[in-house]
Amino acid sequence: MHTRAIVRRPGRNFAGGITTSNLGKPDYEKALRQHAAYCDALARCGLAVTVLKADERYPDGCFVEDTAIVTRDVAVITRPGALARRGEEKEIARVLSGYFETVMIEEPGTLDGGDVLRVEGHFYIGISGRTNREGARQLSDILARYGYTSSEKEVRDGLHLKSDIAYLGRGNFISTPVFSEMVQGASTIILDNDESYSANCLLINDYLLIPGGFPQSGKKIADLGYNIIEVEMSEFRKMDGGLTCLSLLF
Ligand code: GLY
Repeated sequence: MHTRAIVRRPGRNFAGGITTSNLGKPDYEKALRQHAAYCDALARCGLAVTVLKADERYPDGCFVEDTAIVTRDVAVITRPGALARRGEEKEIARVLSGYFETVMIEEPGTLDGGDVLRVEGHFYIGISGRTNREGARQLSDILARYGYTSSEKEVRDGLHLKSDIAYLGRGNFISTPVFSEMVQGASTIILDNDESYSANCLLINDYLLIPGGFPQSGKKIADLGYNIIEVEMSEFRKMDGGLTCLSLLF
């Protein structure tokens, strides 16, 4: 059960972040409105939301998920894989140290939280353009100290592991065709290719946040009986960001 979330408001230079999406430049005012609606959705799920002010040094700074892996026992502070994002983790480490023991991923390791998919007590760690094997090894060693298991998964396409797959609890996954076979024996919803963005959805307590505008996915997910909250994400999608990217939950 989660009780808290940390988010960071997008800065005025949000459009200057890293993206491969080719969906055009985000509208800053619209991004702020969508971010506020996202925070409202978190509150509706029962979370106390800490909203950090924008840090204009980091255009991608609203994507706080990449800066830490938070468990009940420890917060692992990452070393982001993109040079332009390195440093975002410092303020997050300061905030999380008020709640948890914190442990840092050290050079030459790199790790983005978007590559870390937690499934109960197991963590899948994506090896991607952002997360290297050394970062994955360090995370795995830290998690093992607290009784968690982990395994690595190659991410060949897409930004992060969680760009393509989410765990919905109760043994259910949602995935693009890319990772449809990742978890043997699990119940996995396979999304249509043209709705692959909706693989990045976010389970919070009894609620499931899904991005607005993906009708086929919405229907498939609705069949599983979750309390669904749709959140408009168009401006974050333009910057390769999804629902999980915008918060740290604990
Ligand atoms: N724009 C998010 C990222 O590339 O990390």
